[in-house]
Amino acid sequence: SRQWRGVLREYADRLNISEATPIVTLGEGGTPLLPAPALSARTGANVFVKFEGMNPTGSFKDRGMTMAISKAVEHGAKAVICASTGNTSASAAAYATHAGIQAVVLVPEGKIAMGKLSQAIAHNAQLLQVQGNFDDCLDIARDLATNYPVHLVNSVNPDRIEGQKTAAFEVVEVLGDAPDFHIVPVGNAGNYTAYHRGYTEELQRGESTKLPRMFGFQAAGSAPIVLGHAVKEPDTIATAIRIGNPASWELALNARDDSEGYFGAIEDAGILEAHRILSAEVGIFVEPASAISVAGLLERAAAGAIPAGSTVVLTVTGHGLKDPQWALRTADGSDVQPTSVPVDTAAIADVLGLSADA
Ligand code: F0G
Repeated sequence: SRQWRGVLREYADRLNISEATPIVTLGEGGTPLLPAPALSARTGANVFVKFEGMNPTGSFKDRGMTMAISKAVEHGAKAVICASTGNTSASAAAYATHAGIQAVVLVPEGKIAMGKLSQAIAHNAQLLQVQGNFDDCLDIARDLATNYPVHLVNSVNPDRIEGQKTAAFEVVEVLGDAPDFHIVPVGNAGNYTAYHRGYTEELQRGESTKLPRMFGFQAAGSAPIVLGHAVKEPDTIATAIRIGNPASWELALNARDDSEGYFGAIEDAGILEAHRILSAEVGIFVEPASAISVAGLLERAAAGAIPAGSTVVLTVTGHGLKDPQWALRTADGSDVQPTSVPVDTAAIADVLGLSADA
């Protein structure tokens, strides 16, 4: 056995890097593709979960960030900037500080999960909370990168999508072919675009026999691609995908058309229900945005759009520990209160409904 070397080294021949590229890695990629029998039983499909929360900073963003920061350093950047709903900022901060350069991050005030804010601060980013939403943050990050000496590492930087396409390579390696369907959460639609590109390259190389139909899901309150127009005040509990004007909108529409794909929207209640199913029945803990892949699967299966026996891969994009509060939220909106018990074995056995062996 050997240690996984990160996506740039593992896929050096399939990425735009050279001997001159300094490889900035924290060991990202090589994440588990897990069978999900509970989801297969619910849908009649053969369902696998690509658990991207297992990346070093707890989200899929690390695949693109190893590439973006390595190329930034290659080009002499001393500082990088991004707008973020949280995960990109955590990843940019970790990779920048590992490389010895400064990360500057702009986040929407009050709308990013505590775990992600903590990561960016811990990894020494210069973090500013902007009094606006993600789309405002991205506009300003782009302006700053155009007019000041800071290098943009949002997914409008093509290096990000290049790094992220490696997740599709891993899926094909494990399954021995591409799946019939691939489902992802959609915010800026960079990851949707990246999977489609990765699968297209696999097909061209003869590693797979088909292109998966790419299904992407947005939160109903932040569903510009589904609605066909930008959303001025996007809203959802899934703060990671609270985005009203996706940066990779055009690319994603091309990927949809090329793959006979689909974009759908899910209400927050459906996201939380899927989050519960994934945690309680499959054993995988994710943040709310990631659970939308599960909600999308259930919705499409119920609509008859996924034939029995199809192979379906769901990407769950971020770890549950980043935004754990939702696990405690019950259907009526109150929070679970763990039962309190005295220091007394018999009393605890009683609460558990256990009776002593005869
Ligand atoms: N899931 C999670 C957990 C995310 O953090 C994001 C995006 C997405 C899905 C959507 O991916 O934007 O490529 O369609 N988060 C970005 C951020 C916006 O700043 O962390 P996408």
